[in-house]
Amino acid sequence: MRIVLGVCGGIAAYKAALLLRLMTESGHEVHVVPTRSALNFVGEATWEALSGNRVHTDTFEAVDEVNHVLQGRNADLVIIAPATADFLARTAAGLAPDLLGNIMLTATCPILVAPAMHTEMWLNPATQANVATLRHRGITVLDPDSGRLTGSDTGQGRLPEPATIWDHAQNLVSPSAGALEGKHLVISAGGTREPLDPVRYLGNRSSGKQGVALAVQAARAGARITLIAAAMDIPAPQHPRIEVVEIESTRQLLDAVLTHSRGADVLIMAAAVADFRPRTVGESKIKKTAEQPVPVIELEQTEDVLATAVQTRNEEKNLPGLIVGFAAETGDEHGDVLTYGKQKLDRKGCEMLVVNQVGVGRVFGQDDTEVTILYADGREAVTATGTKDQVATKIISAVAEQFSGR
Ligand code: CTP
Repeated sequence: MRIVLGVCGGIAAYKAALLLRLMTESGHEVHVVPTRSALNFVGEATWEALSGNRVHTDTFEAVDEVNHVLQGRNADLVIIAPATADFLARTAAGLAPDLLGNIMLTATCPILVAPAMHTEMWLNPATQANVATLRHRGITVLDPDSGRLTGSDTGQGRLPEPATIWDHAQNLVSPSAGALEGKHLVISAGGTREPLDPVRYLGNRSSGKQGVALAVQAARAGARITLIAAAMDIPAPQHPRIEVVEIESTRQLLDAVLTHSRGADVLIMAAAVADFRPRTVGESKIKKTAEQPVPVIELEQTEDVLATAVQTRNEEKNLPGLIVGFAAETGDEHGDVLTYGKQKLDRKGCEMLVVNQVGVGRVFGQDDTEVTILYADGREAVTATGTKDQVATKIISAVAEQFSGR
């Protein structure tokens, strides 16, 4: 792996030397890019000796040798340790005063940032807002450890141990890194809303977290993604390879899925789609009056987007050869979650179905989840548990395997 290790000016810079050791000893090619102030703590000679590579700080240094765009673009992983409050602010603002800043703007690989600073600086609302901005952009920012700081003071702000940072970094690099290079994935996320009148709608509890996690993991695997976003509780990811198409209703979802799936390689239907919508939509807000009886809302069935996509693909052939459905299931006295999942896989006609057990407070909006991936070709089901990110990694690996013919 080609790793860029960015080092900022903080006392914990010396720990980055140990981190560098861990990486080179595992056989990775590491390019250290210190900020100018980092060199006050650990000098160029140390970085060059430990990495075996020349060290540069400024964009206009050795221009013929170091292409500031290629350094970021060619990296498989960028780790910043330690990251100062100032670096977080610069990165949140998109500033590029030096080589490291340029790399932050050009890297499309996973980025891990490990901040270290005094507790007050870490807890300062400006720093916290910058961290939130970076996290929304898909950058992984570790929380600093608590313990002894530079002087005799203690608190949150310590750089996590090099082994811990390296562990996180390895988890970040998708096991399917590059496996979806050149592929186009269409992923739906969030919950649809069916209008009742101009201000009211019928909706559901889907947060969009799973669909967004899938889009981020697929982007890490090298794919181009069209994320069709219904209502979500979280912001859409910002990634150069993720295009976001916002929709609201099931009808709009169907249109967007059919339009964007043409010529795509994979369709993943992670959105929670309404099964019913109000038969009529009021042109003006339904009024509450003493004379009028309480309205009765008549519902009609919505289009089944997944089944329609499968059917259209089977007839016209220019839709994705791999269609993945999701199933939110609860078991009952007639069958368990997997039995219902298998029936749904047959009914929908897709190639893979990711089955989730749901109930109020379970899965919807929660960070941890457990899913079982069922295959239509009879392959053995795969179970994945953990955060929605971890589960997304497993699902994207399963998708990537379909292309590697394994
Ligand atoms: N789905 C869809 N269009 C719908 C309903 C669901 O495309 N109108 C998709 C979902 O995005 C998901 C899969 O179908 O990928 C299964 O969703 P789920 O709600 O579990 O299944 P339903 O078909 O609604 O079946 P039921 O509610 O009867 O269990």
